[in-house]
Amino acid sequence: MSKIVIAIDGYSSCGKSTVAKALASHLGYAYADSGAMYRCITLYAIRKGVIKDHSFIEDEIIKLLPEINLRFEFNPQTKSSDTYLNEENVEKEIRQMIVSENVSKVSAIHDVRVKMIAIQRELGKDKGIVVDGRDIGTNVFPNAELKLFMTADPNIRAKRRYNELKAKGQNVSLGDIRTNLDQRDYEDTHRKENPLVQAKDAIVLDNSELTREQQLQFILNIIQELTLSTT
Ligand code: DC
Repeated sequence: MSKIVIAIDGYSSCGKSTVAKALASHLGYAYADSGAMYRCITLYAIRKGVIKDHSFIEDEIIKLLPEINLRFEFNPQTKSSDTYLNEENVEKEIRQMIVSENVSKVSAIHDVRVKMIAIQRELGKDKGIVVDGRDIGTNVFPNAELKLFMTADPNIRAKRRYNELKAKGQNVSLGDIRTNLDQRDYEDTHRKENPLVQAKDAIVLDNSELTREQQLQFILNIIQELTLSTT
């Protein structure tokens, strides 16, 4: 089958990036984590003191945009791509709670979205890519050949996130994580521009009770059906 675009959207901490990475590696495709891009803008604004005490002036974030250069680079050790902000590997830093707590509001800014979406479309122009996020199938790649909408029980999502951050040595509480997930889901589904909604032609994947292997297999089966129907 010729190369396709695979769009994976869904709620926070559903394991979108885990399955997207596994899928990209299995298919020999590139992978783009669109959430990481919004996280970079947020991290940069925190470092510059533009975001203080969870608040900011929109215009001040917009003024920072020309200073921000983003790219992904494949890391052979982790077999995944790392996120670079102005040539610094920020893969770990962008996952901090302080970034998670501010990123939804930053991602709702029109100019931020315009810049990020242009980069995402450029990355996907030759196809052969898996992109995960919130508006990939609805807005960034509305003609993606395969669209998935991921969801999972919020308690399971919070526990997974907690284990992941604990394993990275971060001092977090399960309650704070659950609050942050609920808040981000609310903000991401209620914002004015490109909110998280299930694309009409997306296939729902609820991975609450699935192992990583099972969810990868679920998607590979769909791809196989897609191949059969197009040959
Ligand atoms: O996938 P993530 O949790 O790393 O994403 C961080 C935030 O970025 C998320 O709360 C909403 C925003 N986002 C977005 O608005 N559009 C995307 N395509 C991806 C993420």
